Amino acid sequence: MSELRHLSLFLPDEEATAALGRRLAGWLKPGDTVLLDGPIGSGKTHLARALIRARLGRDEDVPSPTFTLVQSYEAPGAEIWHADLYRLTHPDEVLELGLEDAFARAICLVEWPDRLGRHLPERALRLSFAAEGEGRRLEASGPADLVAGLEP
Ligand SMILES: Nc1ncnc2c1ncn2[C@@H]1O[C@H](COP(=O)(O)OP(=O)(O)O)[C@@H](O)[C@H]1O
Ligand SMILES: [Mg+2]
Repeated sequence: MSELRHLSLFLPDEEATAALGRRLAGWLKPGDTVLLDGPIGSGKTHLARALIRARLGRDEDVPSPTFTLVQSYEAPGAEIWHADLYRLTHPDEVLELGLEDAFARAICLVEWPDRLGRHLPERALRLSFAAEGEGRRLEASGPADLVAGLEP
């Protein structure tokens, strides 16, 4: 288990959020999980969308999985799972969705990760968004080798 690290970043506008998603896209490997925390409208889907498009290498439609709960993409080198668990009714629904299996072999981006309960993966990069002025403050924490993927 690698050491834990924390990083605080200010994202002045939505392009800064997208740029961070693109940077992370080139860093993540199959089996890596990103937990996207923060209130509604804080930028979770915006980051996930930029990351998925960068990884796919095309400007594909990336809808918010608000109602489907999960959406998966076949990207070169890894499958990507994008989950929005806001409407999850019970943590064990995670099993029905196939998320535990995906955590092991895909790149998983999870909005509302606290809904995972005991299914929260041990090794994950947590990105917590909060409004700050016109932009967003992002607090990142997790294994040092994952946090390093946020650095320019
Ligand atoms: N760093 C930022 N500064 C200002 N606005 C941002 C920033 N990042 C994203 N946004 C905007 O905030 C909104 C976030 O929406 P979304 O990503 O759907 O939120 P969430 O998934 O967290 O509910 C979008 O309109 C996006 O353009
Ligand atoms: Mg969202």
